[in-house]
Amino acid sequence: MDHVAEPVDDAQSPKRKAPVGVDANVPSVARVYDALLGGKDNFAVDRAIADQLMKLTPGGANVPIYNRAVLGRGVRHMISQGIDQFIDLGAGLPTVQNTHEVAQRENPEAKVVYVDNDPMVLVHGRALLAENGNTTVITADFCDPDEVLNNRDLRALIDFDRPVGLLMVAVLHHLDDAQRPAELVARYLEAIPSGSFVFITHFIDGGEETAEIERVLLTDLGSGRFRSFDEVRGFFDGMELLEPGVVYNPLWRPDPGDVVPEPMSFAGKIIGAGLGRKP
Ligand SMILES: C[S@@+](CC[C@H](N)C(=O)[O-])C[C@H]1O[C@@H](n2cnc3c(N)ncnc32)[C@H](O)[C@@H]1O
Repeated sequence: MDHVAEPVDDAQSPKRKAPVGVDANVPSVARVYDALLGGKDNFAVDRAIADQLMKLTPGGANVPIYNRAVLGRGVRHMISQGIDQFIDLGAGLPTVQNTHEVAQRENPEAKVVYVDNDPMVLVHGRALLAENGNTTVITADFCDPDEVLNNRDLRALIDFDRPVGLLMVAVLHHLDDAQRPAELVARYLEAIPSGSFVFITHFIDGGEETAEIERVLLTDLGSGRFRSFDEVRGFFDGMELLEPGVVYNPLWRPDPGDVVPEPMSFAGKIIGAGLGRKP
């Protein structure tokens, strides 16, 4: 377990301590998402943004729930296609249905590498994975594919001579256009062998309806771009986009018994998902 810093000024839970490298006075994407999921690994600044987002989003609690659920369905689908090694870019803080839990339930030998640039993810991830030799977590900026793909711990688990499942779940919308997210996906695609899969979820532009949510994300959190279906489909250039294409999260290969809102709810339309296969 990493060292723990002095207590920080966190008005609503003054005894909470931030790990080294974590600033409890500046919100982080990972912690706001954790707060939205009802987790405990967040601070007052994060909860303030989560509260604002909830106010703007009727049924907002369902947004991260749908996203975690579709992540699980995506992983299970890739496992059913023979994938047994995953790189989860922008993995987030441990929560329900973690990628390695879903994958290793289906195939106990499945390998999972979590990548995130938030130091809290490393601290909590390591604690969760203390006894799991098939899973590791590394701290890296996924905008630097060379750094990620040459990481020694990642290389120890992932065999690039065999197909890989690459997850970019609720992460590309934290890149603005100047960061060229489509080029980033293309660089990862280049590095993985034929038969690999790329699973992406992303905020879907709902015009006026999502503009205010985007404004809060961009001004208070610093990132959160809503893109059109066409723009998100563009991330799959060079891949075979599998059925049903890029669709709202609840519509992406629902499991038997899943309740799919009909008509689609506002919360169901916030994020969409798609799975591509490298030919
Ligand atoms: C909204 S969370 C998504 C977590 C998880 N993938 C999911 O969908 O449930 C986005 C995650 O991406 C991470 N992230 C954002 N930008 C990143 C970057 N440039 N490099 C690595 N991780 C990043 C954040 O720290 C956060 O944990």
